[in-house]
Amino acid sequence: MSQDDTTKRILVTGGAGFIGSHTAVALTEAGYTPVIVDDLRNSRPDVLAGIERILGKSVEFHAVDCSDEAAMKVVFDRPVLGAIHFAADKAVGESVTSPEKYFSNNIGATSKLTHMLRMAGVQHLVFSSSCTVYGEAVALPVGESAPIQPAASPYGFTKQACETLLGYSHAAAEGQLGIALLRYFNPIGAHPSAEIGELPIGTPANLVPFLTQSVAGLRPELTVFGSDYPTADGTCVRDYLHVCDLAEAHVAALQWLEQNNGAMEAFNLGTGTGSSVKEVISAFEAATGRPVPHRFGARRSGDVTAIYADASKAANLLGWKTKRSLEQSLGDAWRWQEKLAP
Ligand code: NAD
Ligand code: WQD
Repeated sequence: MSQDDTTKRILVTGGAGFIGSHTAVALTEAGYTPVIVDDLRNSRPDVLAGIERILGKSVEFHAVDCSDEAAMKVVFDRPVLGAIHFAADKAVGESVTSPEKYFSNNIGATSKLTHMLRMAGVQHLVFSSSCTVYGEAVALPVGESAPIQPAASPYGFTKQACETLLGYSHAAAEGQLGIALLRYFNPIGAHPSAEIGELPIGTPANLVPFLTQSVAGLRPELTVFGSDYPTADGTCVRDYLHVCDLAEAHVAALQWLEQNNGAMEAFNLGTGTGSSVKEVISAFEAATGRPVPHRFGARRSGDVTAIYADASKAANLLGWKTKRSLEQSLGDAWRWQEKLAP
């Protein structure tokens, strides 16, 4: 590692969260120095200990709101090369009942943070967007030029609004701020060490944490939402990618920004393959040898039938592809669940 590598400080907002914690590990392994800002509203302080056990060294951490300009001064006291902005609220259902919270934290904080980055002369920004911006896809797989549909939830709207805001910020910065918008498909799994993973608070809304909690006996069974969709086996299709693959995509995006100063692009991040809910259950059983208690129930309101990524732009420009299989992702998710609730 060169001297320069050790000084490549990267602000990671939401770095104690699910995707941010894995990305902090991947950044360090790639020679960057993550600076984690997370006020722990949806994570726990022991995530930091997990990151540090994996890395065998300490990581700079500030337990503050990333939109609090006064509290953020400490971060910008020393040069910051780039930022990865994960911090947001992400529960689709909650966004319907508390839209103001989502507009305030997801759009408001992104706006304030982007202003701080520009004032501090930070050159690169990687933003956590979502495949939710595409809504019900008109053609599969979904490429980045697919139409952005009217948002199905306040949460989805905040991602679309942030993408628009960042387009204006990019123009205003006149080449001084490069931006990568990363549209994640369905991140699952955990670090293979089981030191860090997803920490759903309350009843999980997402498939994989609900599935692993059902297998662990914390829930009676998984309800498969709908078995009458026009798909091969009647259940919904999604593109599930391992969170460590996703973390590595952030490193690739930063490296691409370093090589393409002032650029702005959106990238789909997925495996490129759709898997049905039934296929996820079978893959979990194959990976772990444990049966998944489940039943088939009604469709969940707001679910799209099928969506999976055309991730060829990320492959061509970032040199990034997923490496881990669905079975590996589910096996790692299970090891993490076992550690959480043995
Ligand atoms: P997460 O809730 O695990 O992590 C987000 C972290 O941000 C949490 O640790 C929380 O405490 C922190 N945070 C929130 N607001 C903050 C603020 N104002 N200041 C400081 N810290 C704050 O979520 P995640 O799954 O890791 O998601 C990360 C990002 O990726 C989010 O922007 C989310 O919308 C986006 N995303 C997630 C998924 C998914 O399925 N997990 C899919 C697409 C996009
Ligand atoms: C996956 C599949 C469900 C739970 C959500 C957000 C999206 C993005 C990723 C942030 C669907 C089925 C689920 C259960 C089930 N997040 N399912 N039983 O809905 O694709 O996307 O997370 O940007 O914005 O909407 O993910 O994990 O909730 O569902 O059958 O108990 O599993 O119907 O087909 P989804 P999910």
